[in-house]
Amino acid sequence: MRHSILLLTLCAAPVLAGPPVKPVPDRDLGLSRTSVFEVTPPPLFHDEASAPGEKSLPKRINKEYPPVIPHAVADFLPITQSANGCVDCHAVPGPKQKGEATPIPASHYVDLRRVPVVKGEALVGARYVCLSCHVPRTDAPPLVASTFRR
Ligand code: HEC
Ligand code: HEC
Repeated sequence: MRHSILLLTLCAAPVLAGPPVKPVPDRDLGLSRTSVFEVTPPPLFHDEASAPGEKSLPKRINKEYPPVIPHAVADFLPITQSANGCVDCHAVPGPKQKGEATPIPASHYVDLRRVPVVKGEALVGARYVCLSCHVPRTDAPPLVASTFRR
């Protein structure tokens, strides 16, 4: 055992020694492409101001991702134990009508912890705070372009 460890160490040694690694310029370290010594304000962006149904839905990247909220949310917040504006509009039976609130999908009525295969009557607690998964859209440009393809 001790011999093989020694052998491995000897084999690995030239690789580790290798050619000198080039330093990474500090401007290439982050997404903002500025020096780490500069304090640059992030670009301004605006919250979406449109009312529900006013604008067309953004393209979905993947049906497994929580879709982006296409409308303004300020009037429907905060979500509290006794008030959830999102549920008021979205807890509709379906099928989906264009321009009308998209029904909350069956997955949100399945208690993955206790009865993972059954669609229950009530929205499960883990789905109650919609904004922990769904983000409202903004006009912020993406920091990096997505190359995701299905
Ligand atoms: C006044 C009713 C209303 C309220 C309140 C509301 N919505 Fe909506 N929502 C809509 C409508 C209408 C659409 C647009 C559907 C369309 O254009 O086909 C929509 C679209 C969406 C979509 C996109 C669905 C899709 O098919 O891609 C998401 C996600 C969403 N809302 C989440 C929320 C969340 C989270 C809240 C609470 C912060 C909320 N909504 C509050 C009516 C509402
Ligand atoms: C734990 C994360 C999570 C939470 C919390 C959550 N969602 Fe979702 N939601 C998703 C994911 C993931 C999808 C896409 C996959 C699916 O349909 O289950 C989705 C899909 C949706 C859709 C699109 C349905 C369709 O037919 O395309 C609507 C509308 C929606 N959610 C509304 C809501 C509302 C309203 C709330 C709050 C009451 C909420 N969601 C809470 C993760 C979440």
